[in-house]
Amino acid sequence: MPARLRRSKSSDSLHGQIAAVTGASRGIGLAIAQALADAGCQVALAARFRDARQISHIRQKLGADTFAEPCDVRDERSVSAFFAAVKQRFGRVDVLVNNAGIGGPSRKVAQLSLADWREVIETNLSGMFLCTRAALPLMKRGSSIVNNLSVSAKGVFPGMAAYNASKHGAAGFTNTLREELREQRIRVIGLYPGATDTAIWEQFWPQAPRQRMISPETIARAVVFALSLPPGATVEELVIAPTGGAL
Ligand SMILES: NC(=O)c1ccc[n+]([C@@H]2O[C@H](COP(=O)([O-])OP(=O)(O)OC[C@H]3O[C@@H](n4cnc5c(N)ncnc54)[C@H](OP(=O)(O)O)[C@@H]3O)[C@@H](O)[C@H]2O)c1
Repeated sequence: MPARLRRSKSSDSLHGQIAAVTGASRGIGLAIAQALADAGCQVALAARFRDARQISHIRQKLGADTFAEPCDVRDERSVSAFFAAVKQRFGRVDVLVNNAGIGGPSRKVAQLSLADWREVIETNLSGMFLCTRAALPLMKRGSSIVNNLSVSAKGVFPGMAAYNASKHGAAGFTNTLREELREQRIRVIGLYPGATDTAIWEQFWPQAPRQRMISPETIARAVVFALSLPPGATVEELVIAPTGGAL
């Protein structure tokens, strides 16, 4: 069949790419890892994996030889060890998805402990910095970085000061990174999901109504679409909100 008549799937361009996804033990990170694997990427999954059964569950879903290694994004040595292992196994990173994150408790500023504040900032903001810095030496021209932010990087939710601050900070980091990497043609995508049906809600609003939330698989489809565009085009901000509005 002549090439001009062949209809290739948009995600064909991802075939054979190496994708590292943090926070990939469940939720949005696991859905993105699965979607990237379905698009032909070789995936490297990072999370703390405190329950060893999580890794065997992932290998059942994604394949027995799937690379999934414990990594705590708050810990510089743990992050370095993870990307050293990725380098040894794959030699490079074409797609980095900085997704690991926590919500923390819902508490007004006057009641928020320093320990809770620090845990959220270290995970959502410093973790993104540490993983990006460790991955960049493995990334060449034409690579992509997706930073999972949140609609709380654009607005705020009262009772969630640490989370809002971490995501506003991560948006500033993301926008700076995009400018710094333009010359190397590494594109940087800021992902801004609205309410998505994952376990994160148990941390601050266990009774949150789930019916109107977006599924993690829908977020993953949008990420794969953005990554499938020609390398000369960047979806700089990918904002995905529930059609039915806020909760
Ligand atoms: N769900 C939403 O409504 C929503 C909306 C906007 C943005 N987001 C963002 O989406 C991202 C993923 O959240 P989710 O909703 O999918 O929540 P989730 O189901 O709770 O998943 C969070 C992931 O992050 C990992 N993680 C947490 N702390 C970590 C650490 N210190 N080191 C390494 N991995 C760590 C967790 O794995 P381990 O516990 O095994 O380490 C897990 O894989 C977060 O950045 C979140 O802020 C979520």
